[in-house]
Amino acid sequence: MPALVWSDALSLSMPVMDHTHEAFVELLALVEQADDASLLRHWQALIEHTVDHFGQEDAWMRATGFAPGNCHSTQHAVVLEVMRDSARRGTQGELDWVRRIAAELADWFPNHAQTMDAGLALHLKSVGYDPVTGLLTAPSALPTQAISGCGSNSCHDKAAANDTQAPQRTEAANEPLPVGESLV
Ligand SMILES: [Fe+2]
Ligand SMILES: [Fe+2]
Repeated sequence: MPALVWSDALSLSMPVMDHTHEAFVELLALVEQADDASLLRHWQALIEHTVDHFGQEDAWMRATGFAPGNCHSTQHAVVLEVMRDSARRGTQGELDWVRRIAAELADWFPNHAQTMDAGLALHLKSVGYDPVTGLLTAPSALPTQAISGCGSNSCHDKAAANDTQAPQRTEAANEPLPVGESLV
């Protein structure tokens, strides 16, 4: 059984987001269960899906009042870079490293979904933003100042501090994936 499986506990009651998250969980399970011959193919498929997944959420944030460098988008960028770096190492034969980062992702994702993504879902609903059509029905509810946090209840001073810590971690090639405890 994979380390992470989809369940209602991961649902954020926003179908378009849930659909993407369920696909992420399924692709990650394929990575975890892949043999060495197919590992990098599955890892690349997960990366490509994650580019769309994170890009979609980043676009929703831009459309509803978040600053470009908000902590949620910053975490996306850090995680994606770790995944890409892992793919490079995988092509050099470090398959165990790819498997290690995949395991880290399985630990990281529930926390990210239940804090940053949950906060984003609530925010989108509060401003009447339809993520499928891009229509905004309550523009008066948009923030008057750009949001630099992640919008979740867990976003506080620690998150702001991590805005500066996160990029530094990507430079440490042997560091594990930054998991929830370090970025949320
Ligand atoms: Fe997400
Ligand atoms: Fe996210």
